[in-house]
Amino acid sequence: MDDTFKHILPKIGLGTYNMTSKEAEVMTYESIKHGYRHIDTAAVYKNEDGVAKALLKIFAETNIERKDVYITTKLWPGGLIKLDRVRNYKDTLKSFEKSLMRLNLEYVDLYLIHSPHAKTKRIDQWKSLIELKESGKVKFIGVSNWGANHINELKENNLPLPDANQIEIHPWSQKPDLVNYLKENKINIIAYSSLVPLSTWRHKDGENSKKTTEMYEIGSSANSPFKLLANKYNCSEPQFLLQWAIQQNFAVLPKTIDLLRMRENFDFNFFIEKDDMHYISTLDMGDSVTWEYGDPLKVT
Ligand SMILES: NC(=O)c1ccc[n+]([C@@H]2O[C@H](COP(=O)([O-])OP(=O)(O)OC[C@H]3O[C@@H](n4cnc5c(N)ncnc54)[C@H](OP(=O)(O)O)[C@@H]3O)[C@@H](O)[C@H]2O)c1
Repeated sequence: MDDTFKHILPKIGLGTYNMTSKEAEVMTYESIKHGYRHIDTAAVYKNEDGVAKALLKIFAETNIERKDVYITTKLWPGGLIKLDRVRNYKDTLKSFEKSLMRLNLEYVDLYLIHSPHAKTKRIDQWKSLIELKESGKVKFIGVSNWGANHINELKENNLPLPDANQIEIHPWSQKPDLVNYLKENKINIIAYSSLVPLSTWRHKDGENSKKTTEMYEIGSSANSPFKLLANKYNCSEPQFLLQWAIQQNFAVLPKTIDLLRMRENFDFNFFIEKDDMHYISTLDMGDSVTWEYGDPLKVT
């Protein structure tokens, strides 16, 4: 693990899942102009080209340079369903080159293996990422949705450990054992889907997940714990959820296609008291809900 990673990774990045290329272009451009310095995309989101267009414009119109922004993209590992071809060592290098081309960049800051679904090819994929880091085309490498069992395979093979693991974390899925494991192994945590408890979270047609109707009802209630806590801290509910993660040293990646929400998800400055953090630790409901195909952490 490179210690510089945690110093340069901006705490708030823009998530781009469920964005079209055009939406990713507009939101990347507007968010960077607003102060965001981290954009999270992935080959499978099919919007890396939109991010690229926004970056070109930003670099042309402002004083912001390539080194000032932190770009994360991800390898789609394959293996999720039968027809989803698993990427081997060479395929991984090729997939990366395609992402780099779509992003129109000379390097990416962080390259992640999107999930552990490649099973027997996980180690090969990781070796490709190590090669990419050595070549300088990637500054930092990591994984996403990998549990301790998956990361232990790297240890068994005497391979360097990831700089980061991007995982679903919010008050309803806190994963204390995994968090402790990652901390013990000095692997930085990037939290995704921080806003799951909001009633507005992925409520549009086609934005599928395993979030239950009961969860939507709790989130909609005027007495939902996060609404009450947001009132106490004089912030909005999304801001409260994001601060909860940031206070635990997780980076966050709020996604929105709304300009006001984009600002709201960035412009806050408060501290949650210890007693309230303790109370939230009692609200954990367990497993991840984001992936409609089931929790990737459970892949063997
Ligand atoms: N590695 C992985 O497997 C993985 C999985 C999931 C996500 N991610 C990354 O993490 C990012 C964030 O996760 P996510 O997209 O699941 O969800 P999220 O950021 O937790 O929440 C996004 C949802 O909340 C709404 N929202 C955003 N800001 C809001 C606000 N201020 N007020 C009210 N509603 C608001 C958005 O609607 P509108 O867009 O309509 O505003 C959208 O429906 C992704 O975009 C992606 O980059 C990674």
